Amino acid sequence: MSLYYLIETFGCQMNAHDSEVLAGLLEEMGYRPAKAREEADLILLNTCCVRESAENKVWGRLGVLKRLKRENPGLIIGVCGCMAQEEGTAERIRRRYPHVDLVFGTHNVHRLPDLIREARESNALVVEVLESEGGIVEHLPAKRAPGLSAWVTVMYGCNNFCSYCIVPYVRGRQRSREPRSVIDEVSSLFAEGYKEVTLLGQNVNAYGRDLAEEYDFADLLSELDRLDHAGRIRYMTSHPRDFSDKLIDVLSKTKHVCEHIHLPVQAGSDRILSLMNRGYTRDGYLALVQRIRKAIPNASITTDIIVGFPGESESEFEETLDLVKQVRFDAAFTFVYSPRRGTRAAAMENQVPADEKQRRITALVELQNRITKEVNNAMIGRIEEVLVEGPSEKEPEKLSGRTRGNKVVIIDSKQHPGALVNVRITDGGTYYLKGEILR
Ligand code: 5AD
Ligand code: SF4
Repeated sequence: MSLYYLIETFGCQMNAHDSEVLAGLLEEMGYRPAKAREEADLILLNTCCVRESAENKVWGRLGVLKRLKRENPGLIIGVCGCMAQEEGTAERIRRRYPHVDLVFGTHNVHRLPDLIREARESNALVVEVLESEGGIVEHLPAKRAPGLSAWVTVMYGCNNFCSYCIVPYVRGRQRSREPRSVIDEVSSLFAEGYKEVTLLGQNVNAYGRDLAEEYDFADLLSELDRLDHAGRIRYMTSHPRDFSDKLIDVLSKTKHVCEHIHLPVQAGSDRILSLMNRGYTRDGYLALVQRIRKAIPNASITTDIIVGFPGESESEFEETLDLVKQVRFDAAFTFVYSPRRGTRAAAMENQVPADEKQRRITALVELQNRITKEVNNAMIGRIEEVLVEGPSEKEPEKLSGRTRGNKVVIIDSKQHPGALVNVRITDGGTYYLKGEILR
């Protein structure tokens, strides 16, 4: 008799890919994917703790799972990922969520088979959260979603310690994978038929600094570009401080690497940037954007912005608005500052009141939406290379795809799903473009 598993993933693409590795490990143990929650013998929550709202979702899910466990006492419930790695989480689960069987951190994913066996045999909560990251365990069997795009992690952890961010605490110090294993993985993905590979890391621009050999992210991208394939290569996330001129030069020459740069700015005021420990100034960021646009004129630049960092004044917030107007990002992910226990910013005075943070984010979103729409409208008439992904979610009788700049395009056609095609943009909005396939 088969056992069935279900993984619920919260948070970023790194987590989404970690879930593919968890799925691969489970399938090696003989588990099969469950079609519904009621059918599952094992449910894993792969969690995120970057903001409080992400954690609240997980606590909410755990509440709901209590009923399921009552109906099916043999069900194993596990919590893993960033929140599991956080101090205090396992204790809180032990006290408040006794229906959970297993908690394990981010450094011991490869131990999953043993931990599940332990959880099955034990009546008490099994906890394994390792303090230190250890080496990278290669050749874990990822079970990727079949399709067109695949994720490849190139580095784990982060050394930056931005003062608001919990990631370095739950993901550990930076560890880069060996270039050869990344290159082998990417080339076999293209050989399997994937059309697009996204390289993942918290700060891909620092890739290689911890390797014995002299090798950086620009070297990796140019090697991947030279592989024999017709696919696309994407990467995220870039840190402005570590974005080298060598990388800009490589990006301006590569053929397969998409002209999309996700370049989180976080704030527009020098004082706040310095309190955030970002390591660049407003002018430094603006100059970098200029250098990128000069070398790669059609670059699509997106960003992350936090409003309401402790002590952020009205005029400092306006500097963020002003920077957004100057850069004219293609899109921005905007966040209300959320204090994370153990980070430096959480201990700072002058936390900005919730209603004020709300007002600021509303103003910022409004501004950016207007800019995104203008930028997208300016694309009407242009010819873009689009990877046709499949039926559009909103309009299933049409197809949806992505430009190299990572913009969604709705195409009024049923032809060429899964192909790279040239599309003329016929309409531009805030959330997606429209286009027609060229013969
Ligand atoms: N509060 C709000 N946003 C945060 N981010 C990271 N930490 C926090 C926090 N404590 C945002 C940053 C980062 C993105 C992934 O999440 O903008 O780039
Ligand atoms: Fe967090 Fe900064 Fe590292 Fe990004 S670069 S993961 S924001 S510490």
